[in-house]
Amino acid sequence: MERFGRLQTLTVAHEDYATVITVARQESLNALNRKVLAELETVLDALIAGGPGKPLIITGEGPRAFVAGADIGEMANMTPDEAEEFARYGQGIFSKLEAFPGVTIAAVNGYALGGGNELAMACDIRIAASNARFGQPEVGLGIIPGFGGTQRLARIVGMANALDLVLTGRMIDAQEAWRIGLVHKVVDQGKALEESLNYAKTVMKNSPFAVAQAKKAIYGDPRRYSGMALEVDLFSKCFDHPDQKEGMKAFLEKRQAGFQKQG
Ligand code: COA
Repeated sequence: MERFGRLQTLTVAHEDYATVITVARQESLNALNRKVLAELETVLDALIAGGPGKPLIITGEGPRAFVAGADIGEMANMTPDEAEEFARYGQGIFSKLEAFPGVTIAAVNGYALGGGNELAMACDIRIAASNARFGQPEVGLGIIPGFGGTQRLARIVGMANALDLVLTGRMIDAQEAWRIGLVHKVVDQGKALEESLNYAKTVMKNSPFAVAQAKKAIYGDPRRYSGMALEVDLFSKCFDHPDQKEGMKAFLEKRQAGFQKQG
């Protein structure tokens, strides 16, 4: 198996009980640009080719963020067609992650927003540091979640909580995320990775083959997310509306967005 080590936007470390992928773009709070997604896919493909085995942990570099979303600078000027392709691409990689033949753990060390929360939700287990913050703030940018968030969030925390989080775009702390079932465990700041490695060690005591089969049975038919294609359509439709340009421009200019009022 290729060992990777340091890539441009990720590091890959082979620990005793897990492979640890760290998203390493601290200057933009580890936002997911195309390069991160491409490197993540390359690493996942190589690990998956190895068959059932070691747990996989995903975390973010630095104390502030797991992943603060898809890269807004990269999305700001996308056409609807480009947005459609981007959402399909991200959904495909996150589906691969979900189907990984071993336990996957998100060690959430800070902000997990937008695509960051979607990345965490594509993992089986989420372990959060006490300073972690979760949210789907897309509607404040004039768009909607596009990497499977509308589907996975509702499955994980129920329709009522998913509607609350997605329609307000509000951020919740680790305790609230635990209370609604978004995260499995909250640990002290700085301890998310250590606790994830302990969790991986526990799972590694079991048969890797049986763990992979159990995952397949629990997730079931990959077509269970009936709204994935609809999410792509509606995500790309947002890029045909002035609110998306205004929302993203406002973020990049560090000001409040002024959206079109209806009715
Ligand atoms: N895409 C691109 N750049 C991002 C980013 C994202 N999703 N999230 C943060 N950054 C960048 C900021 O633009 C800033 O860059 P700069 O130093 O060149 O200005 C840097 O990361 C630090 O972020 P900043 O906003 O200055 O930190 P903060 O502590 O004031 O706020 C957040 C932290 C997470 C609340 C804020 O960065 C944020 O709201 N990010 C976007 C979250 C989001 O909407 N994600 C969904 C995207 S679809």
